Amino acid sequence: MQAHELLRQLGIPELADLRQYLWSLPTNTLVGTAAFAAFTTYWFMSRPRAVRPPCDLSMQSVETQGGDLARRSPLLDSDEPLINLYSDTTTMYEVFCRGLRLSNNGPCLGSRKPNEPYVWMSYQEVAEQAEVLGSAFLHRGHSQAGDKFIGIFAQSRPEWTVTEMACYTYSLVSVPLYDTLGTEAIRYIIDKAAISTVVCDVPDKAQLVLDCMADREHTVKTIILMEDFDAALVAKAKECGIEILSLKEVKDLGKANYRKPVPPKPEDLAIICFTSGTTGNPKGAMISHRNILSNCSSIIKILQITTTINSSDTHISYLPLAHMFERLVQAVVMCHGARIGFFQGDIRLLMDDLKTLQPTIFPVVPRLLNRMFDKILGQANTPLKRWVLQFASSRKQAEMRNGIIRKDSLWDKLIFKKVQASLGGRVRLMVTGAAPVSPTVLTFLRTALGCQFHEGYGQTECTAACTISMPGDCTAGHVGAPLPCNILKLVDVAEMNYFAANGEGEVCVKGPNVFLGYLKDPEKTKETIDEDGWVHTGDIGKWLENGTLKIVDRKKHIFKLAQGEYIAPEKIENIYIRSDPVAQAFVHGDSLQACLVGIIVPDPDFFGGWAKKRGHEGSYEELCKNQELKKAILEDLLKLGKDAGLKSFEQVKDITLHPEMFSVQNGLLTPTMKAKRADLRAHFRAQIDQLYSKIKM
Ligand SMILES: *[C@@H]1O[C@H](CO)[C@@H](O)[C@H](O)[C@H]1NC(C)=O
Ligand SMILES: *[C@@H]1O[C@H](CO)[C@@H](O)[C@H](O)[C@H]1NC(C)=O
Ligand SMILES: *[C@@H]1O[C@H](CO)[C@@H](O)[C@H](O)[C@H]1NC(C)=O
Repeated sequence: MQAHELLRQLGIPELADLRQYLWSLPTNTLVGTAAFAAFTTYWFMSRPRAVRPPCDLSMQSVETQGGDLARRSPLLDSDEPLINLYSDTTTMYEVFCRGLRLSNNGPCLGSRKPNEPYVWMSYQEVAEQAEVLGSAFLHRGHSQAGDKFIGIFAQSRPEWTVTEMACYTYSLVSVPLYDTLGTEAIRYIIDKAAISTVVCDVPDKAQLVLDCMADREHTVKTIILMEDFDAALVAKAKECGIEILSLKEVKDLGKANYRKPVPPKPEDLAIICFTSGTTGNPKGAMISHRNILSNCSSIIKILQITTTINSSDTHISYLPLAHMFERLVQAVVMCHGARIGFFQGDIRLLMDDLKTLQPTIFPVVPRLLNRMFDKILGQANTPLKRWVLQFASSRKQAEMRNGIIRKDSLWDKLIFKKVQASLGGRVRLMVTGAAPVSPTVLTFLRTALGCQFHEGYGQTECTAACTISMPGDCTAGHVGAPLPCNILKLVDVAEMNYFAANGEGEVCVKGPNVFLGYLKDPEKTKETIDEDGWVHTGDIGKWLENGTLKIVDRKKHIFKLAQGEYIAPEKIENIYIRSDPVAQAFVHGDSLQACLVGIIVPDPDFFGGWAKKRGHEGSYEELCKNQELKKAILEDLLKLGKDAGLKSFEQVKDITLHPEMFSVQNGLLTPTMKAKRADLRAHFRAQIDQLYSKIKM
């Protein structure tokens, strides 16, 4: 195939024409010095500049003096952790004030209606709205010393951030609620925190709160609604002894009863972030202003080496503000007077919002990255096209290894421009967190998107992050080095054969970003923070030789097989999901069984094509019942397992293909996308029993 034909097939007609034009030139012109000069000029003009990493990448963390093999960031001069990067910015209220000053009252929060441009509220407008709303909270009886919790039950949107700011301005505390928690959990949270005011976006959410509170004693007095509602809802609320007010009414109330701001102190509580474990009731992590600021300062300190955020930056907010990850990103953005544009509220329209907003900062979660990766590779629908993509990616990987990150190379112009344009074309900083991302996906997207792309790791209990990958380090498969605001150590988990002396063990975090404990739950607090202030994360980490941390396992999920061999199923699952046709895997075994079995969900997007190559066609459900395909997948899993060094008893004996993804909706994943193993086991009891009965025969 001719090169220009290839370019055309890849959807790059202009360049194909250019090539044709070049081809039509007399040969001597082409090989002459002119061509050489043109090439070198092009190279010089687009000459890439390498990132200067902030530290030696072969030593990204150093041991502390404590004698417990703990490690800290080499960006610090001593073992003293970083608390504040800017001395005048010690609370979230001051973060906002700094943004107001630096942006020179520029645009702050933006939103849009379908097919319309973004409309912006300025920093000053946000401050005013926060003051009237906060004044109304005080007028309705809230105060720092007394009833200080404000429930927020809404999708990410400007009013969310305004409500949060209203809390910060008057030293009140926001308590986010989110629907994936389920009705039971929402009732539990409202009771636990004794919430009297809940701010909701749509009437449906108000209805849900009413349903939770109906016919029982409760603390809720007021529901504030952002959107219009009808008289029926008001009547229903009245029956439960709850008053429903529109956000506008409440702001009018605040205007009429204005109070001067009551800014919080750094050690004051800012947020109660309820997280659901895999079992039991949600736990309300108490996060102070200092927690957020230490975390936020650390991230800025690391990022600023390559990416100085300023008021020209735009962040797209679509991840739930109920989680610390998005809160933290917003804090970093506001601290620099940059703007925050919200999605329309529908994740299916995110691509359209990206094109309209043209953000420069784009936080992501692995699920979205996987979908982008699948989409890009899916569009390259011939082996040749796929080869070209991989080749272009490998060329850019070679540059990346030398610290060069850019989107103006020939490969970008030829191949990746369309992908970059689909995100608006201006993205210069991406951060992923919340769950592990596959190294293949991360590396490919780093090359395709050509921007600073960091992977972080952390949990709500340390205000979202405790490590992040260093600028200039483009290698994947680890979560980077400790943030300057905390030190990390690994502790022995003998029953799983992990020992700190070997650089392996449970990850423990200590520093000013470590939360204050769980709300009214001293027992769970004690399980999580030890007497010396270390948070025990339950994750198993391993120090790599260059001082970065790799998360290799999870502590809790471990069982013994009948012969007494320890099995850590998540380690096995993480290996199996690397199989092309596989989207999700659940590996089961227990002490009554001598071997493992697996429930495998084939990837709905890939499985059809994969099956076709093996001569099988049909609907996704039909293919899942096909025994030959099952056998082929099992073989692939065993091969992957073997390559990854699984022992033979760590491999599944048999699997069944299941045609429905595990999800939050069907109760098989937690809202943070972790497997609910007990529920999975119950859900698949019949399949598991059947698998074992066949093996015994
Ligand atoms: C913000 O930073 C970008 C990139 O570093 C730069 O091009 C731009 O001029 C800066 N804008 C302001 C207002 O400083
Ligand atoms: C800060 O928060 C982010 C997101 O919540 C998290 O990934 C990061 O580890 C936190 N950093 C520190 C130093 O706690
Ligand atoms: C750090 O070490 C790991 C494991 O040896 C390796 O995969 C990675 O490429 C290294 N990163 C850098 C920047 O050297």
